[in-house]
Amino acid sequence: MLLVNFSNVSKDYAGNPVFDEIDLEILEGERIGLVGENGSGKSTQYILLPGLDTPTEGVISRRRNLTIGYLSQEIDPLQHTKTVFEVVSERSAELSTLSATLHQLEAQMADPDTTSDPGAMDNILQAYGKAQERFEAAGGYTLAHEVETVLHGLLFSYQDIYTPIRHLSGGEKSRLQLARLMLTDANFLLLDEPTNNLDIPSIEVLEAALQEFEGTILTVSHDRYFLDKLVTKIVAIDDDGRIEVYPGNFLYYAEKRKAA
Ligand SMILES: Nc1ncnc2c1ncn2[C@@H]1O[C@H](COP(=O)(O)OP(=O)(O)O)[C@@H](O)[C@H]1O
Ligand SMILES: [Mg+2]
Repeated sequence: MLLVNFSNVSKDYAGNPVFDEIDLEILEGERIGLVGENGSGKSTQYILLPGLDTPTEGVISRRRNLTIGYLSQEIDPLQHTKTVFEVVSERSAELSTLSATLHQLEAQMADPDTTSDPGAMDNILQAYGKAQERFEAAGGYTLAHEVETVLHGLLFSYQDIYTPIRHLSGGEKSRLQLARLMLTDANFLLLDEPTNNLDIPSIEVLEAALQEFEGTILTVSHDRYFLDKLVTKIVAIDDDGRIEVYPGNFLYYAEKRKAA
């Protein structure tokens, strides 16, 4: 099924062409590697594809249920005191609020001021029961299980999961971002050099996670081993704003180019 379609798309910046009348079809479930020299227009695709910028000419159409997910490199410093689990579970604002409420009420229940006052304890227990019900109805307990499963799959130990993220190494932070991405409802991943700064075990879990992802993937990468494992199609941007599509992995693309 057609997910994104570029029809006769041109893009230029102040008269300097980046794309010149390109046509491109992205089908559901495809894994595409985007390659090209520096300055050829790879990053420009990251703003054209999701509609963050419009082409100078031509039309880009997207299927209605398209939900794009990005792998960001940065973690908001405001989150540094939160645990891995908290940051990864923040998909739902309602659930985070309820989870915070539950923790707050638990702290109050343990407070000697409360335990010595039966009236106050009653109120808190009632509020706690209600918050628990809403948390369960909103899928809170299922989410917790899902989050733990994804984090274990990405090599986080039980102890790591409850560690504040400021204690994480660079590789752990990258895997945390990947966990967030895996738990969103994105059906199209736009990745920009995802293996950069990753150690080998992290690259392996990245590859495994992407293999399991059921949606569509478009990735820029200079890592030919990564591309060879993941992608089924190479879109090569050349210097004069054209693209060529190669139905294979990076090795296939390299051989075709050598033969041409
Ligand atoms: N916002 C912009 N304004 C002007 N020129 C830009 C802008 N963004 C990119 N360019 C130019 O467009 C060309 C393609 O850039 P880019 O998409 O970043 O290439 P790549 O990611 O492949 O290195 C480059 O020549 C770049 O200088
Ligand atoms: Mg770029």
